[in-house]
Amino acid sequence: MTNINTLSHDTAGHPTHELALSILEGLSSSPKFLPSRLFYDDKGSDLFTQIMALEEYYPTRCETEILTDHAEAIASYLGSDSFNLVELGCGDGAKTIILLNELLKKKTNFNYVPLDISKAAIEFLVENLKKEYGKIPFQVEGLVAEYFQGLSWLTANASKKNMVMFLGGNIGNMNRAMSMRFLRHLWHSLNDGDVVLIGFDLKKDLDVLYNAYNDSKGITKEFNFNVLDRINETLDGNFDRSKFQHQGLYNIQTGAMESYLISQEAQKVRIGELDKEFSFKPWEALHLEYSYKYLKSDIEELASSTGFEIKDNFTDKQNYFVDSLWQVKK
Ligand code: TRP
Repeated sequence: MTNINTLSHDTAGHPTHELALSILEGLSSSPKFLPSRLFYDDKGSDLFTQIMALEEYYPTRCETEILTDHAEAIASYLGSDSFNLVELGCGDGAKTIILLNELLKKKTNFNYVPLDISKAAIEFLVENLKKEYGKIPFQVEGLVAEYFQGLSWLTANASKKNMVMFLGGNIGNMNRAMSMRFLRHLWHSLNDGDVVLIGFDLKKDLDVLYNAYNDSKGITKEFNFNVLDRINETLDGNFDRSKFQHQGLYNIQTGAMESYLISQEAQKVRIGELDKEFSFKPWEALHLEYSYKYLKSDIEELASSTGFEIKDNFTDKQNYFVDSLWQVKK
């Protein structure tokens, strides 16, 4: 059986009141920022699927390699009792199918719960599953929701054993304080012995990082500009794309790739729905996203300070990326 439940209405077209308020807060701050949740409307999710296919965007390639080479080892942590396989920020599910196939091979009994903020992403994933299997041989319960809503789902369905996947370096978009808060919350939503599989992008050569976030086809740039279009369309804004420049930069101090749109001249942007005008100085930066990069020692510290035990670290041959398998200790 396949069903999709919508818990969040953010992506239906109009941002929620809360999202509009965080846009107001971000544009009124110094330095200016926008909430990164704005990336993932249906158009943004489609652009991100294109980013994942780029040669320069190594995380997807590395993680596909990791899951292909280690699916059996990962599945061995799941035992034979029926469980929920919950995927936070599932996107198109292309990488997950590798693991699903391994679970089917082992004749494991599971309920797949893909969660994403974009409804179109989940629908696309279900289409992909139908292409792969014809009739899908396991139960799928899609959730259109934000991460913390997903954790509430887990709490409400706590009787089963759970495996939670948080792939693609999604955790990298949270700063240290947010990731600690998120992981502690995740720990609380789970039972002793449950497992999580988390993707961490490792620190590496700066040119490799730079090219991954400034691709030559300009898709990452389009992905960033889509955020301005979205504000223009849903909140009656008048951002003029041609007056901004996109740049992805590595912050040596914090160890994060940071995405910016930089105003090329002094300008005013009006957002009708907020009934407010925002002034940009020439070369003023608008920050959109962090993507933190890790050392293995950072991952160990994060796991031990949030109540998890690291059971395995699966890496690709280049050592660019880790899927770290943790177990809940209560
Ligand atoms: N989670 C992805 C990452 O940080 C998202 C991403 C890729 C992204 N490229 C981006 C987000 C550019 C903002 C801008 O790697």
